Amino acid sequence: MSIKETLIEGLKSKKARIGILGLGYVGLPLAVVFAEAGFHVTGIDPDSRKVALLNKGISYIPDVKTEAVEKLVKSGYLTATADFSALKEMDAVSICVPTPLRKTGDPDMSFILSATDELAKYMHKGMVVVLESTTYPGTTREVLLPKLGIERGLTVGEDWFLAFSPERVDPGREDFTTINTPKVMGGITEACNEVATAWYEGAIRIVHPVSSAEAAEMAKLLENTFRMINIGLVNELAIMCERLGVDVWEVIDAAATKPFGFMKFTPGPGLGGHCIPIDPLYLSWKMKSFHYNARFIELASEINTNMPRYVVSRVMEGLNERGKALKGSKVLVLGAAYKPDIDDVRESPALDVIGLLKQKGASVEYHDPYIQHIHHEMDGWQMDSVKDMMKAVEEADAVVIVTDHKVYDYKTIVECSKFVFDSRNATREFVKGAENIVRL
Ligand SMILES: NC(=O)c1ccc[n+]([C@@H]2O[C@H](COP(=O)([O-])OP(=O)(O)OC[C@H]3O[C@@H](n4cnc5c(N)ncnc54)[C@H](O)[C@@H]3O)[C@@H](O)[C@H]2O)c1
Repeated sequence: MSIKETLIEGLKSKKARIGILGLGYVGLPLAVVFAEAGFHVTGIDPDSRKVALLNKGISYIPDVKTEAVEKLVKSGYLTATADFSALKEMDAVSICVPTPLRKTGDPDMSFILSATDELAKYMHKGMVVVLESTTYPGTTREVLLPKLGIERGLTVGEDWFLAFSPERVDPGREDFTTINTPKVMGGITEACNEVATAWYEGAIRIVHPVSSAEAAEMAKLLENTFRMINIGLVNELAIMCERLGVDVWEVIDAAATKPFGFMKFTPGPGLGGHCIPIDPLYLSWKMKSFHYNARFIELASEINTNMPRYVVSRVMEGLNERGKALKGSKVLVLGAAYKPDIDDVRESPALDVIGLLKQKGASVEYHDPYIQHIHHEMDGWQMDSVKDMMKAVEEADAVVIVTDHKVYDYKTIVECSKFVFDSRNATREFVKGAENIVRL
């Protein structure tokens, strides 16, 4: 049997050993899905806290149940380590490391590079590697292929196999999770695609092969760019509607009654999370090397980035109408997470809203049921969530709803507030006749 056939047989019989590099929001659910499908999975992460928790059978990702992890750890299907030499034993490795932006707005490839360098030390014939981290088109071929194959004298598509498969996990979502969200798979060669697809089909319901790693990389960027641009569009619509004295939420709900050709997006205080504000900028950065300016991305990014400033200006106006200056006013920000019902504060617009309110001299507090502490690295401030939320609501000159967590009792919040600025339409049911609510 050829190397490819042997590997496919190992993957189909679940005897192949699986390694997951990076055990975060993407890597841990993926590790669990593979382990539940009957593979022996080793998660490898330099974060020893995560490794220790996992080996105790405890999940630290809200979407992954501790009972599931505990069962898999006890039965020996899932284990974790911070020791990269475990890669020596692996047949199939997924890379799920972060791809943030540098302070300059350029891609920060350091995690992909360090994970690839570690993996390169243990590469051997008969391995398949899949990159899951969102990145610019060309990364798999230009960065991983040389380090893992060419420089080690291994021929891709014959001795080993390499593909890109973007992760699409949506934290907090229950109807579509890793197992039932179709997975796009793009191999460096046809044989690479065949092997990687055989592996993922062993655990994930639908695998959608495409003709190249670049097509798969670009598909992910299209998905996230689509969202970023449409959010930019409705954010600008909100600004235009305010000037026109039209209720943007009513307009969007009306447009959404069209059963075809329209998809509902809602405005808000700005983009957040690890993906939507960041991933499209990987594409626009790459396009610069082709002397091409990705205009839609740049424009949407500009509008979205300006939303926290817009929210603060509206809060300032609202206070002004009530005879108050923002400077010296007490402002309570409700919600720090970048979207409702999750504990993730990465890139959250709440951080910018709070920072700008502070800059203007407001006395700012925040509350989030899921996030006890926040800090802003660049601006050097940190805060704890207020303990008594309703007391803070009563005392605030302005309550600013930044994240519409479901657990909040918006009726009581509105009743007890002097002034609410609602950037998410969370108070839609109580807005009629309520003079103290201003919506985005
Ligand atoms: N979080 C999401 O909703 C989401 C959705 C789709 C795609 N993605 C993409 O998936 C990738 C991972 O995102 P995430 O949210 O899981 O990040 P994360 O920060 O939650 O997890 C990444 C993990 O990688 C570990 N790590 C860092 N360097 C490493 C190395 N050299 N070797 C092994 N592990 C290392 C970190 O310690 C961390 O535990 C990113 O490219 C992201 O854009 C994320």
